[in-house]
Amino acid sequence: MTIRELIDKLHDTNDLSSDELKELLTNCDPANEAYLEQKARETAVAVYEKKIYVRGLIEFTNHCRNNCLYCGIRAKNPNIKRYRLSDDDVISCCEKGYALGYRTFVMQGGEDVFYTDDKITAIVTTIKKRFPDCAVTLSIGEKSRESYEKFHEAGADRYLLRHETADEKHYEKLHERNQSFANRMRCLRDLKDIGFQTGCGFMVGSPYQTIDHLVKDLRFIKKFNPEMVGIGPFIPHSGTPFAAFPSGSADMTVKLLAIVRLLLPYVLLPATTALATVDKNGRKRGILAGANVIMPNLSPADKREFYSLYDRKACTGNEAAEMIAAIEKEITDLGYELSRSRGDGKKPDTARKMLKSEI
Ligand code: 5AD
Repeated sequence: MTIRELIDKLHDTNDLSSDELKELLTNCDPANEAYLEQKARETAVAVYEKKIYVRGLIEFTNHCRNNCLYCGIRAKNPNIKRYRLSDDDVISCCEKGYALGYRTFVMQGGEDVFYTDDKITAIVTTIKKRFPDCAVTLSIGEKSRESYEKFHEAGADRYLLRHETADEKHYEKLHERNQSFANRMRCLRDLKDIGFQTGCGFMVGSPYQTIDHLVKDLRFIKKFNPEMVGIGPFIPHSGTPFAAFPSGSADMTVKLLAIVRLLLPYVLLPATTALATVDKNGRKRGILAGANVIMPNLSPADKREFYSLYDRKACTGNEAAEMIAAIEKEITDLGYELSRSRGDGKKPDTARKMLKSEI
């Protein structure tokens, strides 16, 4: 099959075998890349029209018990100032975000033992009570099934936990021994089973990553069928063991976004901050390759620099939640529309109906 035929097959069937994905990732020339992005864009528009959903990202703690080798807020990095937001700080962020039009709040943090289940549950309960028309997303790492159940009962709607890599050996090269691939997968299964809208995802160009690993990531995503997928380039952080590795490429990230859109037409797919950090046009390029979500930073401005997952992480300009007017203009100029709804994912059946009616 030619590359063009592979892209058509992916578009028509929303599936490709591992060998076909490998061929597409390896031998796609710029003309076919443009065709792939066009097909992904058309698919996103068929399901979500030209709406781009916004989420306000609240980075509420940069304390972390883990030591992911890529991550700047790992426990063994002594060179960052650690902070925690109080419940009141978090609520202030939500109030500010609500006034700006945000209807999803993403509470993201390191795996911080200070925040017991009761503390998380209390914050979620308060946010849901104060802002009943908003969705709450948690992104706080690996927990027990019981903890996840408590968060869900408290009203949390969504949970982001990137799988980071779908290859166990590769996972072990990115993490220390106390973190296991098996537990990551257990967490993802539990989250989905409990009823969270669940997000997985991976970094592009992380150290030791091969094309075969990316193929595995794509096959895993197809099989796991998450509601959300986060994909961004790896970017080195000077205070980590991976400081000397190169960044992942924007081109490869955009290609993978397009493939994920075609594998899962109804997925919620952000154009990530990491993509915007390696390429100033990253957000636009992501949207034009099928991304339909953006997550501007709603953390208190004086804390943003300390949530340093990687060097030079963008948190100003159009990555800043308060710049919603400029963000909206960027989206409108691209021919899209910023949606101020909660932005829940479409269900496969609605999506399929919409896809059919477009044809
Ligand atoms: N480069 C890019 N992304 C990173 N993340 C953590 N460290 C880095 C880095 N150096 C991503 C991980 C994590 C998410 C919150 O941020 O994929 O799941």
